[in-house]
Amino acid sequence: MAGVALRCSAVWRRVTLTSSVRSNIPSLKFHTTASPMMGVTVEQFEQAKSKLSTLKDDPGNEVKLKIYALFKQATQGPCNAPKPGMLDFVNKAKWDAWKSLGSISQDEARQKYCDLIGSLVEEETGSSAQVSAQPAGSGATYETLLVTKEDDITTIKLNRPAKKNAITTEMYNEIIAALEQAATDDSVITVVTGAGDFYCSGNDLTNFTKIPENGVEEMARRGADLLRKYVNAYIDFPKPLVAVVNGPAVGVSVTVLGLFDLVYATERATFHTPFSQLGQSAEGCSSYTFPKLMGAAKASEMLLFNKKLTAVQACELGLVTEVFPDSSFQSEVWTRLKAYAKLPRNSLALSKQLIRSVEKERLHAVNDAEVERLMERWMSDECFNAVMSFFQAKAKL
Ligand code: COA
Repeated sequence: MAGVALRCSAVWRRVTLTSSVRSNIPSLKFHTTASPMMGVTVEQFEQAKSKLSTLKDDPGNEVKLKIYALFKQATQGPCNAPKPGMLDFVNKAKWDAWKSLGSISQDEARQKYCDLIGSLVEEETGSSAQVSAQPAGSGATYETLLVTKEDDITTIKLNRPAKKNAITTEMYNEIIAALEQAATDDSVITVVTGAGDFYCSGNDLTNFTKIPENGVEEMARRGADLLRKYVNAYIDFPKPLVAVVNGPAVGVSVTVLGLFDLVYATERATFHTPFSQLGQSAEGCSSYTFPKLMGAAKASEMLLFNKKLTAVQACELGLVTEVFPDSSFQSEVWTRLKAYAKLPRNSLALSKQLIRSVEKERLHAVNDAEVERLMERWMSDECFNAVMSFFQAKAKL
């Protein structure tokens, strides 16, 4: 695989050299006035070429080969060059890309070339504007999170330490937004962690006490829509996602761990899913991921009978990747993550997507089924009474 990556980057080096051959321009025979029927002008094509050289981000080998092929088709017409030998990887890849355009006209190729460069430029200026709106360390755009980007790592830190990072409705929405932003920013790895001594105490139980005017059913429906969207954001996340579990974790913060690529935990962390205690049922795709990770019997102990696991037990069962001493947790984990973030970004993302694609559809189906069941649970007396007991117990303290 490493060999393929090296060969691909060699392709791009050559592509940039040949596709920016400015000396080709005087001999180009195409329209010099803008007309929707007649394709782009020489000036527009020239502009697109210069814009290409201003791109800061590597658009990936697939796109680069497409740019090369469109340039060749636009300037020379359909590929009639002899096919390079099998072992001439660089020229074979370029030839294949050009040949794949078949007999599309030079006009059409020029249009597509300009459109492609235009969209790359727009993507880059759009995403850099987003990043600068949220400078590393400020967390300015979120109320309940601290979102930072440093060393090619976007970190989403749950930031309600006084409430043990319990997830309110607002926080669910903000996490979804932060994941969406991280999915398209230029970071290589995304990390979720918690502020303070807890990782997260799960769903904020006050969410159940905010009953809208049209009743409990409406509350349950809104909760279900939000949870479905929240879990989907993890299922569909396109880059490596790492949980840095800095302390105890409860409920939905535990169940979605089965959707992360790495889970690093301090030895102080515990993992608890007290669903039946609360009259609820499993979510976060845990009804599928937990039995798959740890076997049905151990999963049932957690998901049905509320067994709280230590970090070491969670690691032995495959829910956690590695456990670290609390005193060195942050330094060891971040040293490692910074090194991982230097690995080739496309290779990491594509491998993650390959792994996920095998069961993405199933995960969405599991999410839908779990959410459906929970909606019923949230309207049940069992759940209502359990939530009331939690707050009554608090009130008595
Ligand atoms: N929902 C709402 N509030 C929560 C919460 C949650 N999930 N988790 C913690 N809090 C609040 C507490 O009510 C408390 O608020 P207060 O200071 O206004 O009284 C504050 O966070 C600190 O929690 P506290 O219970 O005092 O800390 P602790 O260390 O004794 O216990 C927990 C921490 C997480 C074990 C305990 O708060 C708890 O069991 N919370 C409920 C967890 C839960 O059931 N989550 C849903 C799973 S489906």
